[in-house]
Amino acid sequence: MASPQRFCLTTPIYYVNDVPHIGHAYTTLACDVLARYQRGRGAEVFFLTGTDEHGQKVEKAAQTKGETPLELADRVVKRFQSLWEKLDIDYTDFIRTSQERHKVAVQAIFRTIQQQGDIYLGEYEDWYCTPCETFWTETQLMDGNCPDCGRPTDKLKEASYFFRMSKYQDQLLAHIEANPDFIQPKSRRNEILSFIREGLRDLSISRTSFSWGIPVPGDEKHVIYVWFDALTNYISALGYPHDPDGNYADFWPCDVHVIGKDILRFHTVYWPTFLMAAGLPLPKKIFAHGWWTVEGQKMSKSLANVIEPNMLIDKYGVDAIRYFLLREVPFGLDGDFSHNALVHRINADLANDLGNLVSRSTAMLNKYFGGTLPAAGPPTQLDRVLQGRFPVAINQVDAQMNELAFNKALQSIWELVSAPWTLAKDPAQQERLGTVMYTLIEAVRLIGLLVTPFMPSTGAKIAVILGQTTPGSEEWGGLQAGTVVAKAEPLFPRIDTE
Ligand code: MSP
Repeated sequence: MASPQRFCLTTPIYYVNDVPHIGHAYTTLACDVLARYQRGRGAEVFFLTGTDEHGQKVEKAAQTKGETPLELADRVVKRFQSLWEKLDIDYTDFIRTSQERHKVAVQAIFRTIQQQGDIYLGEYEDWYCTPCETFWTETQLMDGNCPDCGRPTDKLKEASYFFRMSKYQDQLLAHIEANPDFIQPKSRRNEILSFIREGLRDLSISRTSFSWGIPVPGDEKHVIYVWFDALTNYISALGYPHDPDGNYADFWPCDVHVIGKDILRFHTVYWPTFLMAAGLPLPKKIFAHGWWTVEGQKMSKSLANVIEPNMLIDKYGVDAIRYFLLREVPFGLDGDFSHNALVHRINADLANDLGNLVSRSTAMLNKYFGGTLPAAGPPTQLDRVLQGRFPVAINQVDAQMNELAFNKALQSIWELVSAPWTLAKDPAQQERLGTVMYTLIEAVRLIGLLVTPFMPSTGAKIAVILGQTTPGSEEWGGLQAGTVVAKAEPLFPRIDTE
């Protein structure tokens, strides 16, 4: 399938009242792999990530630490950015909701929707915990009490602006029904369809109980509700409404918003109806992945089992972590993180399968041909069969990447990893060793190309071993006879399981 010329994808923007953990790393990593894959296919890619900085929680967290919300955000943003660097995330833009460009966009879309009559002033009722000075919604309460301190809450009324979401119920249903791929995976789509069919209510989109946020234009006592603010990042980063760099025109609607399943409703009900009301096009797809547990348990601060990605990267290497997270669990389903499973994957798939292929084939070439790649002789049936597996697998991987089926794409690539040995192990092939060697090493090059989006430094290392500056093209025969190939050091050291 031909790749689109332009491809735009986004991560959620992360709250700055938490430090990055494996869950955040997962969403961002999946986007990075897809972005690199699309770039490799020649697309011009806009890959957006960033931070969600407004709201009562951040305001409070900053207060307890004796700093301003912006000071707190500045600190946490650095932690996200340094983790992305360490994880080899190559994003195009990092939006912070505290930036002026974002404020301009949020106020503009608010005004647009208000001017055409879909925002009105009303009264909002929710539950207030006096000791914590926090408003909670009905669903956030724990047995009617404050979920933070467990004390009773009171019902309070607050003036609030409302978005006429109910008006867009039928239009949204029609859109989801007409676009089967709009919400992925399918189970999530069904969940949202039944939620909408139960009836959409108007949505409160402003608060007066705290001030760390973007003011409602023309009524500055109110700050705009965090989700209205946060979701708008996807277009504010592209330049809406003024579009100084043309990115909005070039990249909106985006190809996919990648999110976790917990924030599905915000992305598939709130966001599309805001856009409909503003007369803007909807994103093409929203894909919700599952959640990670750790050794069978929910990750939580109180269980002290939060997986800190920096520590994992230091211990196992960035490519091993990138590989594991996308290989272990089908994207879209929940998964469990365990150290045993991680070590097993590294030893079996990386050290053994991939690592051995590269080191043994380059060692053979060095032993028999002094490291200089011979020209391939006329291909035999066996060569043709092996070569023929590559275009088939490349098409398969393409289809799987388009469906964000990362684990399946890796499985398809790994079927190729074991394939070349059939040729090298056959004693009848000895006399035409030159052709066998060429085929083997060229297969290594193509496998290096295919793993590059998942493991960029491994892909680059393989290219260097093969005397190349890049992994090259996906056509068979990219390596020239006479190329000098190094004898590879093990790509992935085996991890001692004792
Ligand atoms: N700020 C909002 C998103 C606004 S987008 C307009 C938010 N932020 S978050 O920091 O709490 O979460 C961001 C992402 O991390 C979500 O997609 C969420 O699903 C993901 N994860 C958080 N914990 C996770 C796991 N344990 N496992 C997998 N992903 C998880 O929500």
